[in-house]
Amino acid sequence: MKYYHPLLLTPGPTPVPEQILHATQEPMVGHRSSDFETIAEEAFRALKPIFGAQNDVMILTSSGTSSLEASMLNIANPEDDIVIIVSGAFGNRFKQIAETYYDNVHIFEVEWGEAVNVPDFIDFLKSLNTTVTAVYSQYCETSTAVVHPINELGHALKTYDESIYFVVDGVSCIGAVDVDLQRDQIDVLISGSQKAIMLPPGLAFVAYNDRAKERFSQVTTPRFYLDLNKYLKSLADHSTPFTPNVSLFRGVNAYAKLVEEEGFEQVIARHYAIRDGLREALKALDLDLLVKDEFASPTVTALIPKSKDELNFIKKELKDRFSITIAGGQGHLKGEILRIGHMGQISPFDILQVVSALEILLSEFRNESYIGKAITQYMEVVKAYV
Ligand SMILES: Cc1ncc(COP(=O)(O)O)c(C=O)c1O
Repeated sequence: MKYYHPLLLTPGPTPVPEQILHATQEPMVGHRSSDFETIAEEAFRALKPIFGAQNDVMILTSSGTSSLEASMLNIANPEDDIVIIVSGAFGNRFKQIAETYYDNVHIFEVEWGEAVNVPDFIDFLKSLNTTVTAVYSQYCETSTAVVHPINELGHALKTYDESIYFVVDGVSCIGAVDVDLQRDQIDVLISGSQKAIMLPPGLAFVAYNDRAKERFSQVTTPRFYLDLNKYLKSLADHSTPFTPNVSLFRGVNAYAKLVEEEGFEQVIARHYAIRDGLREALKALDLDLLVKDEFASPTVTALIPKSKDELNFIKKELKDRFSITIAGGQGHLKGEILRIGHMGQISPFDILQVVSALEILLSEFRNESYIGKAITQYMEVVKAYV
């Protein structure tokens, strides 16, 4: 067998840096001890700049979906009207959660692979002719690799009706984008540990402004584990309401140190440089891209192979021969697209591995030489960053 260094390029989980792994393996401490309070206080605070939040960020010991659910149960009362932008599998996740608890759920469908058109969305809100309590959107819709125009959406929403709560699922991009709750008019911004924050799976994060915090305390929808008031009360004491994943909290602090060393602006710039380089490389391989440049995610890229056979060949051979794991499509895009994740601890040169492997595989599959073609395009873009 020929050896290739394994490379995990799925849009989560992502490779976990050694420094984080080490931190997560330190000896256990009691979660009701001052040892943990020190860890927790640091972790709640360390996430603030990553989320562009003024308040300490809540940390739940559960996967990202729990923060989606918490963002509904703590913002919307049972009789409220809520609106969900569905542009892919994770918009559908919001929809499924909403339909589990609420009767007045309005769905704004966006074609998969497209970003929300803000004026059309505001027209949709107007057409509902009802008072809407909250609007839910993905920031990056991971299943299509689209980034929605969140700042434009936030401002348009608040201009339309400033009482609407704007809730954003940033599970697959927080840690790789420039976001600011105040500037972008977001009330609640949620995320998970296993994507650009490059931790193992198992934590969910909730950032919120003061207005949302107030709302959490007024909402009457039944909830227990996901009652954010419990987390807020504990957070003030540098603690958590239930047994936390102590190891991953340590991981959060190790993550924050890595970001500090690199500089958050550099972290973001690296993600965009990789995105831009990879898109040019894929074009040089005569592969179509699902998403227009304007709305392309800095954390995941969706490509369309020329046929199902080509798609299966690429995915299987990358894994079997080159130890590179990428993702397929979800929902009706399953079997239609492939997704390359490039977030967290991914260097521009890591992506050269997948680009060069694709050159070899497509040269074989199409019986046409691509050797050197995609790498050249990739480096032409990435050299400005390097
Ligand atoms: C945008 C988005 N939202 C929510 C989730 C769900 O997170 P989890 O699988 O951690 O529950 C994911 C996971 O891929 C995601 O990408």
